[in-house]
Order: sequence, then structure tokens, then C-alpha cells
Amino acid sequence: MNICVIGTGYVGLVVGSCLADFGTNVVCVDSNAGKIDDLNNGKMPIYEHGLSDIVSRNTKLGRLSFTTDLKSAIDKSTAIFLAVGTPEGEDGRADMSQIRAAALDIAKLMTEYKVIVVKSTVPVGTAKILRQLISDNLDSKIEFDVVSNPEFLREGVAVNDFLHPDRIVLGTTSERALEIMREIYRPTYLLKKPFVTTTNETAELIKYAANSMLALKISFINEIANLCDHIGADVYDVAVAIGMDGRIGPKFLHPGPGYGGSCFPKDMSSLANISRDNDYDFKLINALIEVNTRQRELVIEKVKDALGSFEGKKIAILGLSFKPNTDDIREAPAIYVARTLLEHDVKLSAYDPAAMDAAKALLPEIVYCENLYVACDSADLVLLMTEWNEFRDINFEKIKESAPGAVIYDTRNLYEREQIELLGFKYICTGRPSIA
Ligand SMILES: NC(=O)c1ccc[n+]([C@@H]2O[C@H](COP(=O)([O-])OP(=O)(O)OC[C@H]3O[C@@H](n4cnc5c(N)ncnc54)[C@H](O)[C@@H]3O)[C@@H](O)[C@H]2O)c1
Repeated sequence: MNICVIGTGYVGLVVGSCLADFGTNVVCVDSNAGKIDDLNNGKMPIYEHGLSDIVSRNTKLGRLSFTTDLKSAIDKSTAIFLAVGTPEGEDGRADMSQIRAAALDIAKLMTEYKVIVVKSTVPVGTAKILRQLISDNLDSKIEFDVVSNPEFLREGVAVNDFLHPDRIVLGTTSERALEIMREIYRPTYLLKKPFVTTTNETAELIKYAANSMLALKISFINEIANLCDHIGADVYDVAVAIGMDGRIGPKFLHPGPGYGGSCFPKDMSSLANISRDNDYDFKLINALIEVNTRQRELVIEKVKDALGSFEGKKIAILGLSFKPNTDDIREAPAIYVARTLLEHDVKLSAYDPAAMDAAKALLPEIVYCENLYVACDSADLVLLMTEWNEFRDINFEKIKESAPGAVIYDTRNLYEREQIELLGFKYICTGRPSIA
């Protein structure tokens, strides 16, 4: 089986290299020639845990290649995976320009039957639109199918998620396409990973339903944490106790500065618009968006409360990526917070194990440091934004030497209040107020 993956970003590169790891011949195509050059020269364009190994292994084995030449990739492939971006457009709807451009390219270049697999997260009805768009732009009558195959991987653990998925959703009514898709995913089937076979529209909705359920869980515990701050209860104990209920489960019950990343914010906005466009007032999604926006703003409010005023203050930000083990800063709460603090003329230093290059391009005003201790030097407040493992065992005594009066604001509840306070720091976090 030969397949081609269009779009070599966080999803396309993982999908392509993991499918190659299953033993399939995969050619990854991207319109960004710099990215393809890097990959052909053994340089990874993104940081994703474990990805570099799987890419280099499969490239050496000759099963994985990278090109900008879409025609040759399409010619030799039975299935064409679309993994291009669907960012939030100016009107809050998903911007479909990358998907449309790729579909038009496919229509112009394909000469025989293909399965076009939509991996990108797309509004309900997209498969139908793509089918029409491709049909309208074919030179001759060529058969093809469009399968909606949403991706559920999480950045940071994307390789493991793709190789060991909870389920594989296949949206199509074509038996011919289904047979090809089952063959592509055969190794996961052998691992007894369930397939959910449904219509295109349902598959498209499943992706939004999954993300909104997860975003709801995060926002719910954030709301409980905020309430804990007001009433002196401890959100950690609440989360542990409610998580023991099998109907609730312990995952996604960690309060913080709000969800971010390249998916949840844009997907919630897209789902709100899908609902509106279909004459349904989805109140919960609208509230969810509002709650998450407020959660980021609350970080700024708490910083201001802790410092009294922003004037002449220096803040050290630890963690810039939207979550650990990735360099992705798209919609990262840390970036929103940093930008807002810069608007208040706060001096910022920062350290992140992987995301500083990406952040530098966006916020050059920040002083980027070689390690967390340099970043914390003479800070009035240390703001932990991303729960990277290396931040779990910080030597606070060392920080005490260079920033004795600093407030430690732990938005992710990584530390024990007592230990930090014993060193003479003021400590604030999310939903774990001082009981004393
Ligand atoms: N990032 C995630 O964790 C995640 C998880 C599940 C689903 N998704 C969805 O997967 C899709 C891709 O997300 P991503 O984070 O990988 O995006 P990305 O922006 O990192 O990558 C998209 C890539 O597509 C390339 N591209 C765009 N148009 C092209 C074209 N016409 N031909 C060839 N290449 C083209 C871009 O150059 C870029 O490299 C989105 O719809 C996203 O919502 C993302």
C-alpha cells in the first residue's frame, strides 16, 4: 500500500511517520519547501516527543519520504490523507482555504481512483463540499471517495496516541473506501483497537464533540478551583474525590490558566458557529468559550493583586508552550499572559525547554534565558505557566538567593504551599488557598 499525506505539520508528520512504521510506504507532501528541505536533511521542523526517532528510522528503511512534488506523490498513492491546517478564521469559523486548495490540487492531478482521507478537523458538511469541489474540477470522470477520519492525538504524546488509539473513526458510506481504510489501519485492528464506522457528517461531528467534552471538563474544574479560592476549599481534594467516581473519571481535572493550543480554542469557536449556522443555540459551548477567556484574564488579575501594581515590576515566566513536551505556542495561555503583561510595561524574562524559538518570533521583547534560574534572577514574581517535568523539582532555595522577595504564582498547582512558604516566599496557585 502506498499513501500520501498532504500537510507535514504536527498532525501530518506524526500520521505519515507512524503509518510508515506500520509498514506502509508513505510520502509526505508540504507546500512549505523549507520544511521539506529540513526533513530531507534530517532536521525536524517541530519538537514532538519521540517523533524524531520514528521519522529517521522509517526514512532509513525507505518507507518514508518527503517532497513538494504533489503530482508524483498522488500518482503512486491509493489513499491521500489531508492533514493541512484549519485555523480559526476572522469570523470565528474554521478557515478552509488550505483544505480547498489541497482538494483542488488533487482534482487537477489525479488520474485514477483515490480515497481522499480528511484527517484535518473540519466543519460538519465538509466531506460533501469536497466531493462536489473535486467532481467539478476533474478533467474526466474518475471515481473517488472521501473518508472523514478525524484525528484524536494529543501533542506531547502524539506518537503513542497514534500508534495506540482509543478508537478509529471512519466516516464513509463507500464499502470500497472502507476496505482500503481497514487495510491501512490493520496493525491497530490487530491490537484490538475498535473502529467506529459511520457517515461523513457524524464522523466530522464526533471530533468536535470529543474536543468540547474535554474542554468542558477542564473549564468545569477551573470554575470549581475559582470557587475554592473564594470559599477556602481545596480543588485538589475535590478533583481526586470526584475523579474516583467511574462516571466522571480522574483525567482532565487539573485546574490551570485555561485551555489553549492549536485545537480546543479554534474548535470550540468552530462548533459554536456550526451550531449557529444550523439554527441551534448551543448555550453550553458559548459559556465554555467565555469561561476559558476569563480564566486567562484571572491570571493577570491575580498577578496584579499579588504585586499591588505593575509599575517597574519584573516577572519571570516559566513555560511558554500550551502544554509540556511540545514547542507549540498556538493560543498558549502563557503567550496571552505575556502579551498582556508587556502591554502593562512589565519587564519579562522567560524560560521554556522547547518553545523559546517559536515565542521569540512572536514576542521579541521578552528576555529569553538559558535556564529557569537565570530567568528568575531579581524577579518580583515567578509565574509557572506550563507543567514541564523539569519545573517539578525546582531548587527554590537557589531562587531565594537571586529573587528573595519574589511571589511564586503556580498556575498549574505543581508545588506544595508549605515548602514554598517555609522559604519565606508568598505563594499563590489555582484553587488551593491557604487554610491557615
Ligand atoms: N495539532 C493537534 O494536536 C491536532 C490534533 C488533532 C487534529 N488536528 C487537526 O489537524 C489539522 C492539522 O493540524 P496541525 O497542527 O498539524 O497544523 P499545522 O499548521 O502544524 O500543519 C499544516 C501543514 O500543512 C501545510 N499545508 C497547508 N496547505 C497545504 C497545501 N495546499 N499543500 C501542501 N501542504 C500544505 C502547511 O505548510 C503546514 O506544514 C488541523 O485541522 C487540526 O485541527 C490537530
